[in-house]
Amino acid sequence: MPRKDFYYNKAKVEGYRSRASYKLKQINEFHSVIKRNDSVVDIGAAPGGWLQVAIELSKTGIVIGVDMQKIEPLEGAITIRGDITKGTTKEKIKSILEDKEKRKGKKKLRNGGSIDIVLSDLAPNITGEYSLDQARSIYLGREALECALEILCHGGNFVVKAFYGTDIDEFLQDLNQEFETVKVFNPRASRKESAEVYIICKGRLTAPIKVGEKVVVEIVGEGKRGDGVANIQGYTVFVPGSKIGESWNIKIDEVRLEFGFASCVSEVKKKIN
Ligand SMILES: C[S@@+](CC[C@H](N)C(=O)[O-])C[C@H]1O[C@@H](n2cnc3c(N)ncnc32)[C@H](O)[C@@H]1O
Repeated sequence: MPRKDFYYNKAKVEGYRSRASYKLKQINEFHSVIKRNDSVVDIGAAPGGWLQVAIELSKTGIVIGVDMQKIEPLEGAITIRGDITKGTTKEKIKSILEDKEKRKGKKKLRNGGSIDIVLSDLAPNITGEYSLDQARSIYLGREALECALEILCHGGNFVVKAFYGTDIDEFLQDLNQEFETVKVFNPRASRKESAEVYIICKGRLTAPIKVGEKVVVEIVGEGKRGDGVANIQGYTVFVPGSKIGESWNIKIDEVRLEFGFASCVSEVKKKIN
């Protein structure tokens, strides 16, 4: 039996709204993106197969589904009908979240929103002209990213579908600037002939600097391994080869969730009056 029928039939038997449910299950088996009590926003959610899986995995967290098509009501999910490329849809998502947080008396998490994971299974209408369809899929992925960056908490995760092709490398590079780890994954449940991949981004970075940036810092401490430590707007950066009291022009080499690493470019000598 072809795989298409296997997952289609399985979804029918097990009560899922779409065969896509198994893709999210497989993504989570391999990458543990959704945990109990996580709050989830699913963009491109109709008919709701991923929403069902998100509700099962999160159990107690808020789950919001967005699509330009109607999503039939689903217990445990809030649904929004709207086009994600429109500012009004993004505003609707944010206002639901603000409302929920106000009611819970919950404060915004440090440097970011309050959502633990944003999912995007957005797919363009297929024209059959591959380069056009691929470009559109990356465009939708970028729209989902824009929304994710506004609502994800520090350390939050993002899963986004894209069609494999030329523009994907640039998209991956941009995702690498925003998340601690970025991996490409092909779930078994994707159709064999499909060009889709899922990009698994974990650990939303909220550091005030990006890899490759240059900045002048004072070395204010010393790490356990003897590296100089600089503090950039509350974010710790280790600078091997520097000492307390020195001032350096540094280049950021690596950004992690709670700290980063930089190399010394040139020492900035203090003027003696
Ligand atoms: C592959 S389906 C999603 C299937 C879903 N994950 C599930 O498990 O049932 C892709 C969805 O993206 C939606 N979509 C495409 N462009 C969109 C846009 N600009 N805004 C909102 N939804 C969009 C489509 O309406 C379609 O329902």
